[in-house]
Amino acid sequence: MFALTAAAAAPAVDPVTPPLRASFEPAAIRRGAELAAIGDCAGCHTTRDGQPYAGGMALATPFGTIYSTNITPDPQTGIGTWSQAAFIRTMREGVARDGRQLYPAFPYDHFTKVTPPDLEALYAYLITRDPVRAENRRNALRFPFNFRALIAVWKALYLDTTPFRPDPAQSDQWNRGAYLVQSLGHCSSCHAPRNALGAEDRRDRFGGGEAEGWYSPALDGKSPSPLPWNVEQLTAYLRTGVTVDHAIAGGPMQGVVHALSAANEEDVRAIAVYFVSNLGASTAERDTRAQESLRRAQQGPLATQTLAFSGTTDDVAQMNLGTSIYQGTCASCHDAGRRTSSNGALQLPLAVAVHDPDPRSLIRIIRDGIEPADGEPGRWMPGYGAALTDEQITALVTYLRRAATHEPPWADVARRVQEARSR
Ligand code: HEC
Ligand code: HEC
Ligand code: HEC
Repeated sequence: MFALTAAAAAPAVDPVTPPLRASFEPAAIRRGAELAAIGDCAGCHTTRDGQPYAGGMALATPFGTIYSTNITPDPQTGIGTWSQAAFIRTMREGVARDGRQLYPAFPYDHFTKVTPPDLEALYAYLITRDPVRAENRRNALRFPFNFRALIAVWKALYLDTTPFRPDPAQSDQWNRGAYLVQSLGHCSSCHAPRNALGAEDRRDRFGGGEAEGWYSPALDGKSPSPLPWNVEQLTAYLRTGVTVDHAIAGGPMQGVVHALSAANEEDVRAIAVYFVSNLGASTAERDTRAQESLRRAQQGPLATQTLAFSGTTDDVAQMNLGTSIYQGTCASCHDAGRRTSSNGALQLPLAVAVHDPDPRSLIRIIRDGIEPADGEPGRWMPGYGAALTDEQITALVTYLRRAATHEPPWADVARRVQEARSR
């Protein structure tokens, strides 16, 4: 293992004296700030209540816990002595200044596509932040993943460092969006399926993935969204988390939206243009789903709709239990429709979580509720993890799939509810 470790480490880049703030153009620093927002650098490199960019946030991976590092310009504990060249190598190759291999929990498999001018702007921004003295934490990874040498093997298999190639058949705005999505935005890190070694499936880049126990919906032709997205709606969703006729951004998507709210609006719009095109034109199947969802939402209160449960396909007792929980617990807000002045919320036939291919996100929403980010105003829903038993949540989820969508039932609701408890 020793020989492998030595062979896998890259050469160190010499330390430098921290550069002075005055040596950077203010415009480059501002541009860097906007790019850092798209990359959500602060989201991963800042703990709750911690100093910005001082690191220490725990990332749970299937291989154990990895902690983000201090990327403030503190010379001892941060990146204060990193030259621009050392920083650029880190972003493109996943190697620290001292030659350490870095885990791809740091999404350099995307950042490798960032252009040199954008990397220079990011450097100008980060190196002019306030230095914070904060020692990095030790990772808690299982054997053999605790050996950084293995990362070199992972990179040989999966790291694609070819630069982003614009598609000349598309508009500049589309290409801007495609570039940001694949590079800094690292959207597929949650929205793509991953293999057993944590690498994204590049042939199915937006085919739907998972994040912290939530399902991240497909953002291509497989999108489960009950209604189609247009550029206006998607731009508003990405910048604020809320838009007409679509569900609020929940779970890990909340942090993405929080970061994008500080990004350049034209950049976010370009991302929306790219994704609306990636979602594809309407199909007969999608049109039917949209009409069916609207019909169910407009039919009036879901709670009072009488469904003919049939003993052959439905567990009638479970459906009746689900109906009564919905009526007693959810209907007062969700039958009202979304109102800005009250807690009236979207009719659930329009909520993507009910249409997802698995019930993980719906279970998480019911269990934990919806909370705006710390200290920010926003829409709020109570969590029912303590009030409802597993059996009740299972019945409610099974009922909602049946009553609010046209989709086939989920097969493994009880198991998913149990799994959500143990997370
Ligand atoms: C999904 C979480 C995540 C995001 C987003 C993220 N990072 Fe990181 N970053 C990490 C983790 C985790 C590490 C530590 C990896 C390791 O120890 O092997 C890291 C390491 C680094 C390092 C190496 C520091 C050192 O001391 O070795 C730099 C530089 C860095 N990130 C910069 C950035 C920048 C710039 C952005 C935004 C464009 C960013 N990161 C976004 C998780 C993230
Ligand atoms: C006090 C009002 C209230 C109650 C009660 C309530 N919710 Fe919500 N719910 C909200 C609000 C507000 C949102 C945020 C988004 C919005 O405005 O639609 C939300 C969001 C959701 C979402 C995401 C889709 C969306 O609307 O954006 C789902 C799914 C959901 N709730 C399901 C339920 C279920 C199931 C119950 C019953 C166990 C329930 N809610 C009870 C207010 C409520
Ligand atoms: C940290 C993981 C993560 C990252 C990174 C991420 N997403 Fe998401 N995204 C999610 C999850 C989880 C959901 C489902 C949220 C819910 O059900 O409330 C979601 C939902 C969405 C939706 C709503 C889908 C629908 O049909 O209703 C869109 C659109 C979206 N993300 C776009 C993006 C874009 C664009 C990016 C990159 C800029 C991105 N996401 C990055 C996890 C992520």
